[in-house]
Amino acid sequence: MKTSYRPAYSSIEDLVPYSAGKPIEEVAREMGLSRIVKLASNENPLGMSPLALEAIKSAARGVNRYPDGAAWDLKEKLSAKLEVPRENIVLGNGSNEILELLAQLFLTEGTETVYAWPAFVVYRLATLAHGGRGVEVPLDSGLRHDLDAMAEALTDRTRIVFVANPNNPTGTRVGRDELERFMDRVPESVPFVLDEAYYEFARHLDDFPDGMQYFRDGRPIVVVRTFSKAHGLAGLRIGYAVMPRPLADLINRVRQPFNVNSIAQAAAIAALEDEDFVVRSLEHNRRELARIQQAAEGMGLSVTESFTNFILIDLKGRSGQEVYEELMKRGVIVRPMAPYGLPGTIRVTAGLVEENEMFLEALKEVIDGE
Ligand SMILES: Cc1ncc(COP(=O)(O)O)c(C=O)c1O
Repeated sequence: MKTSYRPAYSSIEDLVPYSAGKPIEEVAREMGLSRIVKLASNENPLGMSPLALEAIKSAARGVNRYPDGAAWDLKEKLSAKLEVPRENIVLGNGSNEILELLAQLFLTEGTETVYAWPAFVVYRLATLAHGGRGVEVPLDSGLRHDLDAMAEALTDRTRIVFVANPNNPTGTRVGRDELERFMDRVPESVPFVLDEAYYEFARHLDDFPDGMQYFRDGRPIVVVRTFSKAHGLAGLRIGYAVMPRPLADLINRVRQPFNVNSIAQAAAIAALEDEDFVVRSLEHNRRELARIQQAAEGMGLSVTESFTNFILIDLKGRSGQEVYEELMKRGVIVRPMAPYGLPGTIRVTAGLVEENEMFLEALKEVIDGE
């Protein structure tokens, strides 16, 4: 789209807007269906903690007031839980906003970010929105980060490095040793962003790196986490990051004073008090991912081993877009992965038992009906 308007950076004109999973209501209307299941956005199918729901109801009464711009209570809670000083914690309107603020702080025309591809598309969007160039380093043949190749891609133009661990949309992860070797090669002046949006789903693994531990050990790291996934608060838009104090101070200069709303803050505090809910969510997720994997393999398809709440299914030569459309006709919304360079795959979030059953039945019909 070229118009007579001139954005600050020409890269903005090349940007392809983020495409969210289709809303349930729209698909229901388009397809004339009454029952739709959405397994497209890696949300928590169990909802949220009942404590969070109560906190939301109670906080709703106070929305005539501005939120606490310093998020005092939530930062206290996070500080105690993560064992990091409150001054090092930054909150965002979704962790997405923090990624965006980092891009705003560090990028100008001629600068670069380094990240893997395919990975979370916001690394690309935030880079282009601020005039930067994304150096996109292909994942290896197992769809894992190729950290050696990423280290080779660092130049004196690099301003931010993003690593999602586990990664979206592949569900893959990197281990402690390889990550540490890579971090050693990133210059201290370049913010190294470890995006742990799916941390909870992988934290039980022996060699899974814990970004917070690296921070506590004094590494100059930015660790980003969210309440959108394991905590089930995606609609409230709240995430956080832990980072060196000078960087937190810079972000606090450019962020909106009230970037995280009062209901989200209250819900997040309550969510942190309900570890049982998280554990239940993780157990459900593990069971359901295994079931989806087994059923997909039973249909002759293959999957990438996932350490998240979604799974990438290889359709063995079929078009992900076509399978996506056929599934949608049957009331199931998944994500086709062609925009991520994986045209023969779909990404499916583990839903409720009956939702996954509906998906698997529909998938079988589509595969058998060829
Ligand atoms: C890897 C990764 N990082 C960050 C986010 C952003 O999450 P939110 O803005 O909801 O906190 C997502 C969301 O899907 C993600 O997959």
